[in-house]
Amino acid sequence: MAEVIIVKSQDEAGEIYARCVADLIAAKPNCVLGLATGSSPLAAYEKLAERVKANSIDVSAVRGFALDEYAGLDPAHPQSYRSTITRTVVEPLGLNPDLVHVPNGALETIKDAGAAYDKAIAEAGGVDLQILGIGTDGHIGFNEPGSSLASGTRIKTLTEQTRVDNARFFDDDINQVPTHCITQGIGTIRRARHLVLLAFGEGKADAIAATCEGGISSLCPASALQLHPHATIIIDEAAASKLQNADYYRWAYEHKPAWQGI
Ligand code: GLP
Repeated sequence: MAEVIIVKSQDEAGEIYARCVADLIAAKPNCVLGLATGSSPLAAYEKLAERVKANSIDVSAVRGFALDEYAGLDPAHPQSYRSTITRTVVEPLGLNPDLVHVPNGALETIKDAGAAYDKAIAEAGGVDLQILGIGTDGHIGFNEPGSSLASGTRIKTLTEQTRVDNARFFDDDINQVPTHCITQGIGTIRRARHLVLLAFGEGKADAIAATCEGGISSLCPASALQLHPHATIIIDEAAASKLQNADYYRWAYEHKPAWQGI
């Protein structure tokens, strides 16, 4: 079972992530970060950028692999995940852009792009720390409900719900939201050595309850985290509001010995 940490704010969650990454970079300067888009990781990236600057952390060798990309969307489009990762992670942290990879959503090559991406991750030695958001339907990356829990990086069809959720990035016009994507599979994500999933707000409460306390099922792709030996789920009170064991998670975190780490 993942460790569930209930925090007061996104900043507090961001601090925990930033600390984990800073420790990782100190131990392994060329570590591989798994990167995610969406609003949930933004405070975490900001806190990490503050920490990198304040402590003059050398990030020149840090490598990165993003989770997903829209199919057929120009990478230069402001809402492509390539642009989003550049804007929210690469630039604020000062990463070397040549070391940060995003799945290639170009339609001409997309059939082989998934296998090539998984190969590139494996050749980099695997992802050390993967940050994750979660969709309101329990998706991670773009692995919609019904995705194989062993899947590799591949093309997926977005659900209507995900396109409605993401229309806010496309002038609130669902017709502009691509219908397909290329996403790391759940099998790919599970190979990362540490998973940190962030979720905030009441809109995520059902997905978080299913992820942490429901059965393991492809209907809630994030429930695959229950199979992972090192998964940390950091959520606010609203996202935690439907958890049966919330009091236990709070108690365990408040009494956590320092030696246990995150
Ligand atoms: C998109 C991304 C996911 C992300 C999800 C939730 O669908 N592909 O990686 O977790 O949005 O986004 P948000 O954090 O904005 O709620």
